[in-house]
This record gives sequence, structure tokens and C-alpha cells, in this order.
Amino acid sequence: MKLRGESAIRTLDDYAGSTMERKQPIIGNFNWVTPSTPLSSINLNWRERELPERLRTKHVHRLHPYLGKYVPQLVEIFLRKFEPQTVLDPFCGSGTTLVEANSLGIASVGCDVSSFNCLLSKVKTDKYDVRKLESEIKDILSRTVAEINRAGIRKELVEKEATPFLKQWFSSKALFQMLLYRSFIENYEYSDVLKIILSRSARSARLTTHFDLDFPKKPQTEPYFCHKHQRTCRPTDDALTFLSRYSLDTIKRITEFSKLRTDAPVKVICGDSRKVELPQFDTVVTSPPYVGLIDYHEQHRYAYELLGLPDRKDLEIGAASNGNSKKSRADYVKGIGEVFANVRNSIKDNGVVVIVVHDKDKLFADMASNIGFKTEEVLVRNVNRRTGRRGADFFEQILIWRAA
Ligand SMILES: C[S@@+](CC[C@H](N)C(=O)[O-])C[C@H]1O[C@@H](n2cnc3c(N)ncnc32)[C@H](O)[C@@H]1O
Repeated sequence: MKLRGESAIRTLDDYAGSTMERKQPIIGNFNWVTPSTPLSSINLNWRERELPERLRTKHVHRLHPYLGKYVPQLVEIFLRKFEPQTVLDPFCGSGTTLVEANSLGIASVGCDVSSFNCLLSKVKTDKYDVRKLESEIKDILSRTVAEINRAGIRKELVEKEATPFLKQWFSSKALFQMLLYRSFIENYEYSDVLKIILSRSARSARLTTHFDLDFPKKPQTEPYFCHKHQRTCRPTDDALTFLSRYSLDTIKRITEFSKLRTDAPVKVICGDSRKVELPQFDTVVTSPPYVGLIDYHEQHRYAYELLGLPDRKDLEIGAASNGNSKKSRADYVKGIGEVFANVRNSIKDNGVVVIVVHDKDKLFADMASNIGFKTEEVLVRNVNRRTGRRGADFFEQILIWRAA
């Protein structure tokens, strides 16, 4: 087993003037990676200027915020290296693996326990008649605006339809606008896209501070000092601005991806990857949840409440709400082990599993051999924290297992 430790990590500067530099001309374009490219020759430690945010969040990758995504270019590299016929992501989250696989003409299967994440993955990878999509997105918006202009804000709709959570986290004006938009959604063929626009708008229209959109603890109803804008800001009371802004952005992003989209099939399964029946596949590219870090349902709670999606949070592996105790870690190792044992039952002979994980507690150390995989390589990648108010740089591992 090769172990590439932190000291072996190369940056682009290390390649300056070498033949490697010529082989890696444009960061963000990895079409030079082939099955014969040694993984150890690929620089994976990108800095912001080498792989800027706009490339990491290109086309549908930024259709909706999602905390816990991995970098699409990382997925692209492993898909080019292992050239699967069908790739599985048993923790597909916001669908990064599925989008990248489809754009390379590779069939893909994604599974996630969160119904919102499955909806998002599906919307990103569905095929659309983009003209029709554009006309539907614009039509529902005009209907919403026309109805507001005609009848004003109807408090009774809010009283009747809003859950206590929604009443707590939105102004009644914003809530009315969103509930009205929601009431029209089912009239349209591309209703799932409209749900994503509504959810993204709801996220922005919550009564929160601008600097804590990821984990707001309590509604912000008064003006506050904003760390992001360095001035006093007010919580918003309007959702229409966001519905309008994200409508246009969604049209733009889906149109952009439709030019890259192939007809390779994409299947999204909503369920617990420990138990779901998986179709056959030859490769896995995935990033599992970490222990005690994120509550994946809770981060999109506004969407569950607005869209009435089924909640399976009790089946989340490693949920933040279960903490990071010895017992939580043991439950996590058991849960993740069960997922990969399920994967082992359906993967083709000699299939490859690529796992991107920040395994600081070495919870994956003995997992492979216990469930019938052999560790072929472990890469270490320096992750530069580029956005938000979250912590500093860290190292993540990329485990490469082969079905033994
Ligand atoms: C690190 S995220 C994956 C993010 C994904 N790579 C992306 O780029 O969007 C881990 C995902 O595992 C999902 N998950 C947690 N427990 C699960 C389970 N038992 N079965 C299937 N998915 C689960 C979470 O809902 C979350 O979306």
C-alpha cells in the first residue's frame, strides 16, 4: 500500500518548469487525466486562484446551497482515471458525482437518506426542454406577482398553511409570498425545479443574519451588526426579490448544463444506503458524512417544512445532533461499515471505491479489510478553506479500495 503523507504533497509551484507543468495547463480542465495517469502525479491541493469558486460552483453545482459538498473537479479526476461504466455514490448529497458522471457520458446511481438532497440531485441531472422550463419559471413568477398586486397580502393563507417553524423563521409578508408561489407549483410540468427555486429563496428570506446562513440558531428580528458587510443590516421581510433572482439564475444554470448534459442514465434512490437494494456498478466515488459534524436534514429544515418532504433524520449516519462521543463514533463506524458492506454485495469483481474523507480519528483504518476490500492507495489532500467564517485549512484523505 502506498501512503502519500503530508510531506509528499506537491503544489503547482513544485511543477514549475517541469514537464508536469505542461501536462497541467489549465486548472479546472482535467481532460488530460487518463487511466494511465498515475494518481501520484496529479496535484490535488488547489488554491483559490488555481481553482476559483466560480469553477467549483459552475452550472448546476450551485443550483442551491448545500453544506458538505465536495469539489466537482476531484470527482472528474477519479472518473477519468477509473473510467467506470456505472458509478455509484451511496451518499450522493447534492448530486456532485451524478452531475460529473453524466457530463462525461457515464451512467450513475446515487442514494441519499435525505429526501431534499434526492430532490436536488434529481433536479440537477434531469433532462429538460429548456424553452419550456424557462417559460414555466417565468410564468409562475408573473402569476405570483399579479396575484399579490391584485389582492395584497392575505394573512389567512399564512394562518391556515404555515407551520409553527415557518411562522417563527419568516416575516408574514415573505411567508405569504412563498405560500402563494407554492400554491401554483403543481400546475407545472417542471414542478421539481420550482420547488428548488422556492427552497433557495426561502433560505435567503429567513430571519437570519447575513453571516450565519449555514447554522442560524435563532430568528433575527431586529437590526444587527453584520460581520459580512461591516455595517448594521436588517433581516429581510421579502421573498419576492429572491424568487425573482433565483428564477433567472436557475434558467441560466440549467441551460448551461443542458449543453454539456449527455444521455447517460442517472438514477436517484432515496433511502438508507445500509439497506437499499443497489443495481450493479463497477466504481464508487463518494464522500461520506463525518461523525458529529452536520445535521443534513436540519440544514434544509425550511425546505422540509415548506415542501412537506418526508423526514428520515433518525437514519442519518454521524448526525451532529448525536455528538462525537465514543458511542457516537462506534455507531458511526458500524453504520458506514454497513453501507460499504452493502456496496460490496453489488459491486462488480475488481471494482474500485474512492472515498474522500477527513478521517482525523482514523475511523476508516480497519474498515476495508473487514468487509472484503483491499486498500490500494491513500492520497492526502490539503483543503484550503476559501469561503465563509469556517475554520482553517485541513488535510483530507482519499482512500482507494479495490473489491478483493
Ligand atoms: C458529505 S455528504 C455528501 C455530499 C456529496 N458528496 C455532495 O457533493 O453533495 C454525506 C451525505 O450522506 C447522507 N447520508 C447520511 N446517512 C445516510 C444513510 N444512512 N444513507 C444514505 N445517505 C446518508 C447525508 O444526507 C449527506 O447528504
